[in-house]
Amino acid sequence: MRQTAAEGIQYDRIRAVEWEQDRVKLIDQRLLPAKLEYLLLDSLADGAGAIRDMAVRGAPAIGITAAYAVVLGARSRFREDPRRWRELLEPDLEFLVQARPTAVNLRWAVARMRGVINKVSGDPVAALLDEARRIHGEDIAANRRMGGLGAALIEPGGGVLTHCNTGALATGGYGTALGVVRAGVAAGRIASVYADETRPWLQGARLTAWELVQEGIPVTLIADGAAAYLMQLGKVRWVLVGADRIAANGDTANKIGTYMTACCARRHGVKFMVVAPTTTVDLATADGDAIPIEARAESEVLNYAGRRIAPEGARAWNPAFDVTPADMIDAIVTEKGVVEQPTRAKIAAMMTG
Ligand code: MRU
Repeated sequence: MRQTAAEGIQYDRIRAVEWEQDRVKLIDQRLLPAKLEYLLLDSLADGAGAIRDMAVRGAPAIGITAAYAVVLGARSRFREDPRRWRELLEPDLEFLVQARPTAVNLRWAVARMRGVINKVSGDPVAALLDEARRIHGEDIAANRRMGGLGAALIEPGGGVLTHCNTGALATGGYGTALGVVRAGVAAGRIASVYADETRPWLQGARLTAWELVQEGIPVTLIADGAAAYLMQLGKVRWVLVGADRIAANGDTANKIGTYMTACCARRHGVKFMVVAPTTTVDLATADGDAIPIEARAESEVLNYAGRRIAPEGARAWNPAFDVTPADMIDAIVTEKGVVEQPTRAKIAAMMTG
C-alpha cells in the first residue's frame, strides 16, 4: 500500500476528563467549538450535574466521570463520618446513576467502584482513585485496540460517515468510532471523512468537526438530511458509529438518527460498523425494546443556540437515542474482537471469550 503523509501519526492529543489536584477537570463540551473552557468538580453532585447537563457526554466519558465523582463522594462522606461513610454514600451513588439513563457505562462504572467500596478498609480515597484511574486507562487502551481492529475492516480508499461525536471527547481518549477514523486515516485506509451535524445537540458539527480539525484530519460536514444522497452518490463505503448500550442480541442504542442512517446504509449497500468497548455491552438487557431511551427537553429542538426557531405554540418530541436492530449491523467492534453479522450467540461468545 502507498505510504501516506498521515502514516505513523498518533492523532491523540485531546482529553475530555482528567483528575487534577484532587478534583475532576472536564472540558465543558457545551461551549465548544467557540470556547475551550474547563469545569472543575469538587463533589459527587457536581459530577452528576455535569453529566445530566451534558458538559460531559458520550457513554464512556460519562462512565469515567462518574468513577471520579465516586472518589469525590466517598472523600466527603468519609470526612463526615469515618464509620458510616458507606451507608451515607449509597443514596449518592443511586443519584449519580440516575443522571442519564441510556448509557450503560454509567451504571457499569459505579458498580465497579462499588466493588472497591465494599472491600476497602480505612480511608477509601486512594483505593478508589486507583480504580477510577484504571477504568480511565483501560478505556483508552480499548479504544486504541478497537481503532486498529475497525480500520482493518475498511478497504483502502473509500470515504466514511460518522454520526454524533464518538471521539476523545466522548471517551477516556482517542475515541471509539472516531478512533477507527484516527487509525484508518493514520494507516492510509480512509480517503475522506464526512461528519453529520447530529441535531439537536450538534455533536457532529460542534464536537467531531472540532476534534478532527484539532488533529489535522480533513473533515466535511453534512446536514443530517444529506446522508442518503451522500450514499446514493457512492461517496462513503462505511458508516462508523458508537453505542450507548448494546443489548444481548446485538441491538444497539445510539444517538438519535443512527437508525435512520442505518436504513440509508442498507438501501445503498453501505456497510454499518458499531464500535464500542465491552463496558457498553449489557447482557442483562435482552434486546433493544428493553433499552431505556432518554427523553430530553422540548426546548433543545425548539431553540437553536439559545434562540427560538419554532413558532410559539409548536411542540417538540426529543428522544435522545434510537435503536438500530442487530440485523442492520455489519460489524460490532469491541476491544475483544470483531463480531460480524451480530447475533445473541456471537455476542455471548465474544463476552466470555
Ligand atoms: O447524548 P450524547 O452526546 O451523550 O450521545 C453520545 C452518543 O450517542 C455516542 O455515539 C455514544 O455515547 C458513543 S460515544 C463513544
